[in-house]
Amino acid sequence: MFKFKTKVLVTVISAALAMVSCAQVAEKSASNGEKKDASLVNGLPVIQGVLTQAPNVPPPITRSYAAKVVINMETQEKVMRMADGVDYMFWTFGGQVPGQFMRVREGDEIEFNLSNSPDSKMPHNIDLHAVTGPGGGAASSFTAPGHTSKFSFKALNPGLYVYHCATAPVGMHIGNGMYGLILVEPKAGLPKVDREYYVMQGDFYTKGKYGEAGLQPFDMEKAIKEQPDYVVFNGSVGALNGDKAITAKVGETLRLFVGNGGPNMVSSFHVIGEIFDKVYVEGGKLENNHVQTTLVPAGGSAITEFKVDVPGTFIIVDHSIFRAFNKGALGMLKVTGPEDKVIYSGKQADTVYLPEGSATQSIANPAAAAAKTLTKDEQIAQGKNGYESNCLACHQANGEGIPHAFPPLAKSDFLNADHNRAIGILLHGRSGPITVNGETYDSVMPAIALNNEQIANVLTYVLNSFGNNGGQVTGAQVEKQRKVAPSAEKSDVHG
Ligand code: CU
Repeated sequence: MFKFKTKVLVTVISAALAMVSCAQVAEKSASNGEKKDASLVNGLPVIQGVLTQAPNVPPPITRSYAAKVVINMETQEKVMRMADGVDYMFWTFGGQVPGQFMRVREGDEIEFNLSNSPDSKMPHNIDLHAVTGPGGGAASSFTAPGHTSKFSFKALNPGLYVYHCATAPVGMHIGNGMYGLILVEPKAGLPKVDREYYVMQGDFYTKGKYGEAGLQPFDMEKAIKEQPDYVVFNGSVGALNGDKAITAKVGETLRLFVGNGGPNMVSSFHVIGEIFDKVYVEGGKLENNHVQTTLVPAGGSAITEFKVDVPGTFIIVDHSIFRAFNKGALGMLKVTGPEDKVIYSGKQADTVYLPEGSATQSIANPAAAAAKTLTKDEQIAQGKNGYESNCLACHQANGEGIPHAFPPLAKSDFLNADHNRAIGILLHGRSGPITVNGETYDSVMPAIALNNEQIANVLTYVLNSFGNNGGQVTGAQVEKQRKVAPSAEKSDVHG
């Protein structure tokens, strides 16, 4: 993302260079977008800090000297989407959750101006973990609505630091979304990568349970008991899904600046189908390699780096996995480019497995011979078990799916319109966009390893549940579809 902006900026600067002298241009801007004014403070040049909203990150710092960096940030209280049909009064740094990303250099002196919107009902402040000093700036930045507080600090330690509001009740201010990240780049800079992104987890506590529609108030009791209804990346369910997924091309290197605002949960941060080549543990200097899942403490961070080798949709989760599939902690990284069948083949074969020996190996489908014909009611009963062990995690107990991630099976126009197409999807899996009940979904459904009768039973159960139109699918019908080529590309997803 910033790659593109940098390119534009470089072009603009090149054009400017053609018209005015180099010295004048250097006074005004660096190639990474930092704006420098002519004055000096404490002998340091004054620079306007670049702030970005997640998942974007300000460009790497290109200067080789310390500066006085001026940061202006506004706290705002505003109603925004938590999930489809669910709104929440978020308290924010800069109007979004997480708060704006700041990027400074080790040794910089930061002048921090915290304004609290005149529309706010509450006072707010900021505690930056990058600050060395009492409260991390909290007392100095305590700001009533319609006021601005100013304080300064020196970025002594490089690292990736959380900042958050620390106004009482602190848990409530953090629980309403008041956190973000500040990166203090080491003097020598970070190694060059192709793309950088900002992902921050948080847990939310609402009066209604997960998905309950309407404007949901904060629930202090659940927060104290540490029982979140929502655990999300970047402030809402689906903030990194579908067309909001982060992206990369095969062969590129990525750096994820990962934060966890809490207030309560620690994160087992994992990207399904990727291995972190490098993790800066807890956002510090310690480097670990070949990491599958990295722990991100509440009020802490991690920097993960990896190269993407194959295309596909890679699911970003908190591997405390019920949070991913039932509370919203699920994002997407979409990688485009050529396949590498050596690194990952996709499914190469599906053959009969007969541990009993070879006597019956000529039977094409293991269940076909043994299957007795069930009544429709028996099919529905057996299908319910199959649904619960294979489908429920994504499509949910009530068949309503997960907004922006997994389409609903309840009252599904897509499902009811074509039973054979549904059979094909269970047999072969499916990826790519589909429209269900007017909503577009772009996720990955793996092929389900069930035999003809089991698939028939699950589908018969679904067709006769969740407000669907009824109907019956038979094993013979599934067998027929087995021989039909899949209509869309196949895809796998593994945990
Ligand atoms: Cu606050």
